[in-house]
Amino acid sequence: MNNLVALKKLIDFELEEFNNSLLNKKPSSLYEPIKYTLDLGGKRMRPLLNLIACDLFDGNVSDAVKPALGLEIFHNFTLLHDDIMDKAPLRRNQPTVHKKWNPDIAILSGDTMFVQSFQYVMQSPTLHLKEVLDVFTKTAIEVCEGQQMDMDFESQLNVSIPQYIKMIGLKTSVLLAGSMKIGAIIGNARAEDAQHIYEFGKNLGIAFQLQDDILDVFGSSQKVGKQTGGDIVSNKKTYLLLKAMDMADRYKKEELQLWMHTTNVDPVEKVEAVKSIYEYLGVKALAEAEMQKFYLKGLTHLNQIPCNQNNKDQLINFAENLMQRES
Ligand code: IPE
Ligand code: IPE
Ligand code: MG
Ligand code: MG
Ligand code: MG
Repeated sequence: MNNLVALKKLIDFELEEFNNSLLNKKPSSLYEPIKYTLDLGGKRMRPLLNLIACDLFDGNVSDAVKPALGLEIFHNFTLLHDDIMDKAPLRRNQPTVHKKWNPDIAILSGDTMFVQSFQYVMQSPTLHLKEVLDVFTKTAIEVCEGQQMDMDFESQLNVSIPQYIKMIGLKTSVLLAGSMKIGAIIGNARAEDAQHIYEFGKNLGIAFQLQDDILDVFGSSQKVGKQTGGDIVSNKKTYLLLKAMDMADRYKKEELQLWMHTTNVDPVEKVEAVKSIYEYLGVKALAEAEMQKFYLKGLTHLNQIPCNQNNKDQLINFAENLMQRES
C-alpha cells in the first residue's frame, strides 16, 4: 500500500512536468491561462481518488499516473467554462481566467485542456484502454448534462430535491465516481468491485457537492477561495434554497421569491437577506444531514469490496477529511 503523501507526490510531480512543458508554448495567450490555473493548486482530489482506487486493488499506481493527470486537467477545464457560466470572479483566491484575460480565452484554453486531458487518459495501459475510455467519455458527456441542468434550473422555480440530486450527480459526482472506477480498472479490479467503487465515488460526490453548496454561503471566502454567495446571486437551485422554499411559511416564501425575481438588486444585500432566511429556517443542518446520508450510502458499497482493510481505511480517512473540509 502506498500512503497518501506518496500518492500526492506522484501527482505533483506529473503536474509540475506538465506545467513546465507549457512554459514556452505559443501562442502564450492560449497556454498561459492553462499554466496559471494548474499552478494555483486545488485539492487534487480526482487524481488522488484515482490512485487510491488503483492502490485499493493492489494495482500498480505508476500505470495510473498519466490518466490521473488527465482527470485533473479535465476537472480544471470544467472550472474554466463553469466560471464563465457562473460569472465567477474568483477561483483559488485569484481572478478567474475569463476575468484576468477574457471569456474567449477561457473558452479556448478550456477546449485545449479538454483535449489534453484525453492525451493523458489515453496513456492508460493498452489492456484497459477501451474500458477506461468508455468510462471517461461517458463521464465527460454526463458532466455537460449536469452543467446544462444547473443552468436551466437558474430560471426554473419548481425544481424538486430529486431533480437537484440528479443534477449534482451529473455535474460533479460522476467525475469522482469515474476517476475511482478508472483507477480500479487499471488496478485490475473485478467488474463488480469497480462498480462498487463507482457507486462509492458517486455518493461521495453528492455529499461533496452538498458541502460545496454549503460553503458557498457559509464558508470563509478566504478559505474557499471563491466569492461568497455566488449561488444566491445567480439563483442556483441548491439544496439550501430548495429546502428553505419547502419549509418557509407564506411570508418567508414570498420574501425568497422576491429576492429571486428582482433584477438590479444589490448582490451583497441579497446574499445577506437570503442567508439570514437560511439561518432562520436551519437549512444548513439539514443539508449536512443529507451529506451524511449519501456518505453512509457510499460506505455500504465500499464495505462490499473484499480487499485489504488497511487500504480501505486509507480511503475512508481521505473521504472523511473531505467531508470536514473548509475549502
Ligand atoms: C470545484 O471542485 C468544483 C466542484 C465540483 C464543486 P474542487 O472543490 O475539487 O476544486 P479544487 O480543484 O480543489 O480547486
Ligand atoms: C461545478 O459546480 C461543477 C463543475 C465545475 C462541473 P459549481 O459551479 O458549484 O462549482 P464551483 O462552486 O464554481 O467550484
Ligand atoms: Mg456551476
Ligand atoms: Mg461555479
Ligand atoms: Mg459551488
